[in-house]
Amino acid sequence: MPKPKATLIIQNAAELLTMASNGKPLAGKAAGNVGTIPNGAMAIAGERIIAVGTTSAVLKAVDATDARIIDATGKTVLPGFVDCHTHLVFAGSREEEVELKAQGVPYLEILKRGGGIHKTVRKTRAATEAQLVQNATRTLQTMLQLGTTTVEAKSGYGLEMKTEMKLLDAATKAAKQSPVDVINTFLGAHAVPQDLTADQYTKAVIDNMIPEAQRRAEYCDVFCEKDVFTVDQSRRILEAGKKAGLKTRIHADQLHQTGGAELAADLKATSADHLIHASSSGIAAMAKNGTVAVLLPATGLSSLLPYANARAFIDAGVPVALGTDFNPNCWCESMPFSIALACRYLKMTPSEAIAAATINSAASLDRADSIGSLELGKQADILVLDAPNHTFLAYQFGVNRIETVVKKGKVVVENETSKMPT
Ligand code: NIG
Ligand code: FE
Repeated sequence: MPKPKATLIIQNAAELLTMASNGKPLAGKAAGNVGTIPNGAMAIAGERIIAVGTTSAVLKAVDATDARIIDATGKTVLPGFVDCHTHLVFAGSREEEVELKAQGVPYLEILKRGGGIHKTVRKTRAATEAQLVQNATRTLQTMLQLGTTTVEAKSGYGLEMKTEMKLLDAATKAAKQSPVDVINTFLGAHAVPQDLTADQYTKAVIDNMIPEAQRRAEYCDVFCEKDVFTVDQSRRILEAGKKAGLKTRIHADQLHQTGGAELAADLKATSADHLIHASSSGIAAMAKNGTVAVLLPATGLSSLLPYANARAFIDAGVPVALGTDFNPNCWCESMPFSIALACRYLKMTPSEAIAAATINSAASLDRADSIGSLELGKQADILVLDAPNHTFLAYQFGVNRIETVVKKGKVVVENETSKMPT
């Protein structure tokens, strides 16, 4: 039998993290089982992984004659990050809110004053699709350099039909200009527009927008929150989304305990996100119904909020995923920084946080069978970290230690990293 021909080989890694999980998220006692192989290697043919193991085993298993070789001596190899919660597409910025928040003005008060999401909506409605595509493409490039190979992108800064569809179309066009894969979520119900009541707008989202969004997005999402959309309005929107073929995600229990986690479980949502104030019965219901908890520590930092209780989810057996929540309120493109925050404020271990940023994040997007781990047959989305072990991702923050990014088997980023002290 001739050996399979490799196009790319990464070898001699001090540590290779497989996240091997058979297409499932890592949860409960297995939440930190990152599947470390010392002196690891992997071989790729085209877009797929054809061998993973120790360097000697991989080199025995494949034909390396025409392969590009990356030497990862002293470095760590792991799956590309999956950022499962971003508001990728918008215009303008909101830097003035840093000072307001420092003065103690709460998030919902800024929104009531016509700032926050409403300010971004004004800017975004006025922007052309081409401007939005350019902004999003630039953001995707920054994310890619930080190791993110797949991104979920929400609409939500239009709050009317034309702009909501423009945002989804812009995300799709930006994805075509970037190596990063983008998964669209329709979040028309992100805030109540200033000229309508929540009930009037809920009806417009259901009757007019969902039928148009269903061919542009894979998921439907709602900001279920006190003074935004009630549990009942959120349920009606998400059920209408389901009927139109859109799977469910939800901004749940972020600022107040509203029963968002319970609603997510009841709807068998793929994910419930934020969850800072989730109740224990909501957490138990999520565990029972297989909803992934998406936790977003950068939002806690930028909005001066408390942090979600990751341990309660892990102990209950709920898979925990991490995202950046990139948006104009939380301008963070970095999954490594989110991992570092998770290990401090969410009390996750480095292994748990990295699993949350890869295989579990993939699971929160229904993609645990194709990305998020380094296993045979999976898409070759791979990072080389310029550090001798994965703990550095949690330990050092504010610099980029991602040296090489491979997307679908091709090297797409080669960063100059600062030299490690000896
Ligand atoms: O996930 N909570 C609602 N949505 C965003 C913030 C959006 C904004 O403030 O522009 C979030 O944090
Ligand atoms: Fe969000």
